[in-house]
Amino acid sequence: MPDDSAPSSPSLPYEGRTIALVGPMGAGKSTVGRRLAEKLGREFYDSDTEIEKAAGLSISEIFSRHGEADFRRGEKQVLRRLLELPPHVLATGGGAYIDAETRALMKEKAVTVWLNADLETLWRRVQKRDNRPLLKRADAKAHLSHLVTEREAYYSQADLHVHSKDGPHTNTVASILKALQTWTPE
Ligand code: S3P
Repeated sequence: MPDDSAPSSPSLPYEGRTIALVGPMGAGKSTVGRRLAEKLGREFYDSDTEIEKAAGLSISEIFSRHGEADFRRGEKQVLRRLLELPPHVLATGGGAYIDAETRALMKEKAVTVWLNADLETLWRRVQKRDNRPLLKRADAKAHLSHLVTEREAYYSQADLHVHSKDGPHTNTVASILKALQTWTPE
């Protein structure tokens, strides 16, 4: 016989939604996102990876062969598709949340988390890989700083704000999980 007296685990509003990480290049969206997904037993998607799969080209190749505007169109399409999938963890590219329609769609379908870090941390992390076409320029650090400043007005519209400090990613995952407990739909 079912035990009616057993306390049922309360479900929290975020459990029915995709958790979308937004924020600048180097914030750790993909690494942290993958770990968060593991912790929650959810699927993990990375919008950049999905764009690369759909195009059969790397992000750098898309930028150099087709230009940024084409990349942005693909990014928007891919996000629209991913946001229709059952609740998962989604890492988005640093420019994705700047588009007004994508932002509105994420507001509707996901819980958005702005993953941020200070400029020195972002800069150190992005230098580890040579896969970011927007930073292939002599003044890359100044440009990263400019993008971060320019985009803050958009990132700050995310539902939750989490600072990714230096140190183990598990700390950032824990901060996100804590923030998620507080989230309620508007
Ligand atoms: C971009 C960020 C990149 C990638 C592309 C453009 C941006 O993703 O989408 O190079 O505009 O900030 P990450 O944030 O994962 O590096």
